[in-house]
Amino acid sequence: MITLGIETSCDETSVAVVQNGRKILSNVIYSSLAQHRPYGGIIPEIASRSHLETVLPCLEEALKKAKKKPKDIDLIAVTQGPGLLGSLLVGISAGKALSLALETPLVGVDHVIAHLYAAFLSEKKLKFPFLGLAVSGGHTMVIRLDSARKWRVLGKTLDDAAGEAFDKVAKILGLGYPGGPEIDRLAKGEDTNRFFFTRPYLSQESPDFSFSGIKTAVYYTVERHPAKSSLSLKDKKAIAAGFQEAVCEVLVKKSLRAAHDNGLDTLVVGGGVSANSRLRQMFLEASKKQGVRVIFPPMILCQDNAAMIAALGTALYREGRRDTASLEAYPEFFHGN
Ligand code: KG4
Ligand code: ZN
Repeated sequence: MITLGIETSCDETSVAVVQNGRKILSNVIYSSLAQHRPYGGIIPEIASRSHLETVLPCLEEALKKAKKKPKDIDLIAVTQGPGLLGSLLVGISAGKALSLALETPLVGVDHVIAHLYAAFLSEKKLKFPFLGLAVSGGHTMVIRLDSARKWRVLGKTLDDAAGEAFDKVAKILGLGYPGGPEIDRLAKGEDTNRFFFTRPYLSQESPDFSFSGIKTAVYYTVERHPAKSSLSLKDKKAIAAGFQEAVCEVLVKKSLRAAHDNGLDTLVVGGGVSANSRLRQMFLEASKKQGVRVIFPPMILCQDNAAMIAALGTALYREGRRDTASLEAYPEFFHGN
């Protein structure tokens, strides 16, 4: 079965061709990040215009790389949400048009669940149920997945997403956008205790997260610093390391606790923040002690990509899901299933 995946929820336009929901034949990704960088964040209008310009070239390239013709496509899977509404509409419209023209079934896919489902593309032995930690610029969620259709949110952020906190702290430190990779790079090998930030919510039993307090703490640390507007690189590095340590510790401890409480021995980490090197290191150390297997999909599958959409779309189709030309985008995470 050949599935064409389309992803346009944020700043990446991606089209992929996946065979039988497991084998990636092509996964073309175009990012409009460079156009957003000067503004210090994603500008929705720029993102949707870029999707309009690039979705068809990405489609052509994906088919070419996969050595497939439009008539070879058996299923079209498209990101339905959550994401930027204007951006989502571009991908959904492309999916609908292809589905109608090729008389091919269409399936709408959730972007956050797809980030976790992406692990099936690299881990051939992965089986349900497992716990997923989705950490991106827009989401921080701990989700129990029992099948492609059946999942339950166990914990989520009450305010900023983890990636959002990385981006905002990077801004406070005068670093570029996106902030996660910058902080990751600066914090390497630094003393994490010179600037210590309180770990929010760790002492409570609540499965939810909160990252806006850490961000504010970093803000006041900089505000009260004698050098304030001209922080030395040494201090920036130490603050970045202290902040990163706090965020990672909360993510690791809370999700491993959720795995334990739910009797799950496998944890998949997905979304942009899962690229963080300290998070990976901390998870690997802590999970060994707890006997939990932690899976990080390869980097290319951690960022926004259409292969994960095609993979989950194929599974949903096999479980009976069918959508029509009335498929609608949703900007916020859809909790009911
Ligand atoms: O999943 P993603 O590509 O897009 C969505 O938000 O859906 O995630 C982007 C987020 C940004 O906030 C970025 O700063 C963060 O992932 N990120 C990182 C790293 N690489 C990307 N955060 C921490 N460390 C990194 N190495
Ligand atoms: Zn994402």
